[in-house]
Amino acid sequence: RAAAAADMERLPLIQRIVSEALRLYPPAAFLSRAAQAHDRLCGREVRPGDTVMLPIYALHRHHLLWTNPDAFDPDRFLTPPDRYAFLPFGAGPRICIGAGFAMQEAVIILATLLSRFRFTAIAGRAPEPRMILTLRPHGGVWLNVARR
Ligand code: HEM
Repeated sequence: RAAAAADMERLPLIQRIVSEALRLYPPAAFLSRAAQAHDRLCGREVRPGDTVMLPIYALHRHHLLWTNPDAFDPDRFLTPPDRYAFLPFGAGPRICIGAGFAMQEAVIILATLLSRFRFTAIAGRAPEPRMILTLRPHGGVWLNVARR
């Protein structure tokens, strides 16, 4: 049967897989803020009106924050990451209001698809991440799909 919201707690591995995908390929791969006041950040002056970029993609692959950062390893989420090392939905007053819904939707869809189909890579068609305003797979994600 299709997965449903009530199944969430029974799908911890799928939740870790979605988190790991959001770490390696955060759709909001950078965020920015306009400074309201003077500040200093890592020794640099920040003036009112300056734009401060938060490179989420780089943060999620930082060697000081993650072990083997470029590897896909959902089990790294068996231990919750530092709150400010993993920001697929941002943080603070402007945190994504749809985060819980987005996670639930992704877990339900992935669990339902994996219970019905097998997905395998297509040689020569590896997805190519491309950053426009958001990070997305250029030309889509191509996979072979077979019924289970
Ligand atoms: C995987 C899916 C999603 C990702 C990665 C995502 C990511 C984000 C991020 C990073 C922010 C913060 C932007 C910032 O700090 O400048 C944000 C804000 C927001 N998101 Fe999402 N989002 C997702 C899904 C959704 C969904 C499903 C909804 C609505 C149902 C939603 C509604 C919003 C809204 C309204 C804001 C602005 C909140 C505010 O500024 O007060 N998002 N999202």
